[in-house]
Amino acid sequence: MSVFDEQPPIINVSSFSKWLKENYSFFKSKDIKLSRLNSERDINLLIKEKSAKKYVVKISNPKESLVQLEYQDLLIKHLRYNRQLKQIYPKILHNKILFYQDSKQRRCAVRILTYIDGDMYAKSKNTDHTEQSLGRLLALQSTQLQSFIKNQAIRKFEWNPSDIRWTKKFINLFIGNNKNIIKNSIDEHEKFVFKNIKNLKHAVTHGDPNDYNIVVKKEKIIGFIDFGDSIYAPVVNDLAISLSYALMGVKNLFKSLQNIVGTYNKFYKLSDQDIYSLLGLIKSRLVITLVMAAKQRKKYPNNKYLSISENNAWDLIRKLHKVDPYFFIAVIRDICNLEPISDFSKKLQLLKSQQFGNLFNFDLNNVNKKIVNFDKSSFLLKSNPSNKKLDNLVGKFLKKDIGIGLYKETRKVYKSNHYISSLNLLERRDVHLGIDIFVEENTPIKSPMNGKVVILHNNNFKYDYGPTVILEHKINNYKFFTLYGHLNKKCLRKLKVGQNINKGEWIGEIGDYKINGNWPPHLHFQIMTSLLNEVDNFPGVGEEYLLKIWKQISPDPNIILQIPESFFTNKVTKEKILKKRKRNIGRNLSISYQEPLHMLEAKDQFFYDEHGRKYLDCVNNISHVGHSNKMVHNALVKQNLKMNTNTRYLYNIINQYSDRLLEKFPKKLNKIFFVCTGSEANDLALRIAKTYTKANNVLVMNNAYHGHTNSLIDLSPYKFNSKGGEGQKDYVHVLRMPDEIRGKWTKKNNKWVNKYIEEAKELINKKFNHINSLSSFFFESILGCGGQIELPKDYLKNIVRFVRQKNALCIADEVQTGFGRVGNNFWAFEEHGIVPDIVTLGKPMGNGHPIAAVVTTTKIANTFNNGMEYFNSFGGNPVSCAVGDAVLDVIEKENLQKNAKIVGDYFIKQLRKIQIKFPNYISKISGKGLFIGIDLIINGNLSLPNQKLATKLINTLRLRGILLSTDGPFNNVIKIKPPLVFNKDNADFVCSEIESFLIHENKK
Ligand SMILES: Cc1ncc(COP(=O)(O)O)c(C=O)c1O
Repeated sequence: MSVFDEQPPIINVSSFSKWLKENYSFFKSKDIKLSRLNSERDINLLIKEKSAKKYVVKISNPKESLVQLEYQDLLIKHLRYNRQLKQIYPKILHNKILFYQDSKQRRCAVRILTYIDGDMYAKSKNTDHTEQSLGRLLALQSTQLQSFIKNQAIRKFEWNPSDIRWTKKFINLFIGNNKNIIKNSIDEHEKFVFKNIKNLKHAVTHGDPNDYNIVVKKEKIIGFIDFGDSIYAPVVNDLAISLSYALMGVKNLFKSLQNIVGTYNKFYKLSDQDIYSLLGLIKSRLVITLVMAAKQRKKYPNNKYLSISENNAWDLIRKLHKVDPYFFIAVIRDICNLEPISDFSKKLQLLKSQQFGNLFNFDLNNVNKKIVNFDKSSFLLKSNPSNKKLDNLVGKFLKKDIGIGLYKETRKVYKSNHYISSLNLLERRDVHLGIDIFVEENTPIKSPMNGKVVILHNNNFKYDYGPTVILEHKINNYKFFTLYGHLNKKCLRKLKVGQNINKGEWIGEIGDYKINGNWPPHLHFQIMTSLLNEVDNFPGVGEEYLLKIWKQISPDPNIILQIPESFFTNKVTKEKILKKRKRNIGRNLSISYQEPLHMLEAKDQFFYDEHGRKYLDCVNNISHVGHSNKMVHNALVKQNLKMNTNTRYLYNIINQYSDRLLEKFPKKLNKIFFVCTGSEANDLALRIAKTYTKANNVLVMNNAYHGHTNSLIDLSPYKFNSKGGEGQKDYVHVLRMPDEIRGKWTKKNNKWVNKYIEEAKELINKKFNHINSLSSFFFESILGCGGQIELPKDYLKNIVRFVRQKNALCIADEVQTGFGRVGNNFWAFEEHGIVPDIVTLGKPMGNGHPIAAVVTTTKIANTFNNGMEYFNSFGGNPVSCAVGDAVLDVIEKENLQKNAKIVGDYFIKQLRKIQIKFPNYISKISGKGLFIGIDLIINGNLSLPNQKLATKLINTLRLRGILLSTDGPFNNVIKIKPPLVFNKDNADFVCSEIESFLIHENKK
């Protein structure tokens, strides 16, 4: 027989009062009043003196052992040793435990304690402060109890929530859903508590810090009472027991957990294992309450105390039943400042390092996308449309684009009670945890990585997922999951749970309105780092106030989709940008393509526009080592944060960079003048040449372009001979461009190159027979604006010889072709076995940062030093030098010159294959390395350049995600000059698109 089976003491209060006076000297002459306090198995009486002093007299159950009661007294004394706790516990007033014979002549032990005067926690209005105070004191008590070691505490006890297996035999006391809840809680006890018990730190515990054993005053806990249930048990039990009462009747469980558990954890660190078992322990205690109530109510129908908590307990256990136990663990971990999902950072990094396959038969980044907003500002939801109507609206809005529904969007569309937050009844789950991809129904879906099917389920409630697949993926012992919702039923027939799925394998198809949960056809795609309690229906929306936790359970699905971030953040449309640009910027800045592109970001050889669409960049040779290169960026930032100034001060970086740059040149070229643009470089080169030769005339190649300044427009037949140009100036002399297919002499003519050389020789000799009349000869080894025309073998060598005979300087313009682009050599002039007197550099030199240079000989530089200072505010500044240095680093580290050679050769070879197939359209593939041209003609006629086709080709390929440009005197040459990180796959892609374009053209 235990104290639970023995009837509590039965007393006559007035005779007991007499007994008290007789036995305790401090009551002898006092006028005291006794009144009953609540108790389950004992009698507790409140003693009030006239002076208002209060005491408690505890008359124990006759079955209570003396040893146990003495243990309790020792326990109280131990707790009172702690200064912070002293006031929280009653003082023991008796010297010795005496016995009173109750009305049934049973010996009942009597103890007298001070009364802690306040409200019971159960009865008081508790605030955040009260809850925090509870958390703190429970933790301090847990700490103080660690040093209280007593054998009497080791005992079995039915109210101990860490072992409730005994309750199993009482499950049948319940029916219906109540039974289900009790059973489920007992099962969870097994899993989360019993199986984890060895991992929980044990010590003496209070054993019953319930809401009638906690005294509150002015929002503070002022007392813990009743140590009758003290037991050696998991330390976390006391917290769990307290919570199983403190959370009763609370609407915002999360806040109370934050207050109580969060504060507890500040003073007593909960272990991962404590947190793992906490919910199980809370529910276990509630199960005990409910089983006890059901049992005892039968036995003692009049003892109200027995069932006092019953209704509240049901209410709380029902609420907790709705909380996923793993989610609860994540919440508590967060409250305790741990990562909600253990090892989340590691997991995330691992996931981010993977290579993913496409989710569809197409690359999501190769199509135009539009954001489909379902937040409160959504125009789609303005009229509160039915889901059927929404289906139509979304279809109309998207037209042919793919719709993207946002991750973390707070949505207005989740209306049922199902979406009420289980941890706070005042909140809803309305933040989207996946990305929606609106595509046509029946669109097949493929797995982005290897995995296996773990859940296959038709969530066929209105507005739910409809048929759903969840895959499990394992990376280095970590598990990840991906969810595909709103499918059609095919997946349910074709897949099996447990089935392995390879990356790229079919896993389902998009469902239509009728089967997909009544939504516009789309895929709900979600990543999970945990399957939580492995339920069929994983939440697709979470609570905003718990977003920190949800973000770890379901991180951004864009880790896999890899839609550029700028697509989500862009706020300005192309139309607006264009309108404003027209208002603010001079109109003769051209804009590429019939349908202009509004680019938002770029990386390596790719651009991304406002539709989140990826473009392969075959045009921007300025971004030489790739767009947004990290090394270049870091070098710039580092130097810019340190210092930026001009060349009037000494700093080392200019020397460091100059050394490295000059190493790339023939020894003779050993002096640098830094400037900012290619035009500036050529302009300075011209000035140096004029100073050196004291001559004025300049020789240039026809169709050449050397820059946009006054002096250089005059040296650029490409400009002065075309629209808006003022024609050729007297001092400018133009050599015919040796064009092998459309020139005066072509490949068909015998020794055709010699004819150009002879003509040039004649012109030079005739025009500059006075020594010192020709200052310089400007040339590009491959004429870019001229249509990617390579100067033929021996041509340059001869012209340079003639020019030098006139004491003039040869100036190689390497602004387009320099820095390894031509593959075989670092500079294009090297292909011709010549050493120019001056070389000008620009574009790729700073990978987009404005840095350019003139490189020449000591002799020429010395002559230029004629007394006039050369000063350039920006040229050669430390930041520019650091950037230039970093560009050389990347070229070397990533072997980009070699890449230009290998990929360039391959590209040219593949293009020549296309040329063979389409001789009617392509007359020539020209260029070196990654500086290539495709000359387009009409009907196979070499003398009929096909500008129309070239324009059509670049505009068509732009729509297919490839950026190209046209150039040459007839604008019929497709220019290819991509960042040097370009690879063979990129080349294949361009070739296949050009080929399919030409096939299509041929069919017309
Ligand atoms: C061969 C050549 N030289 C010089 C320049 C002028 O360079 P920048 O635009 O940096 O002034 C260009 C520009 O396209 C060019 O192609």
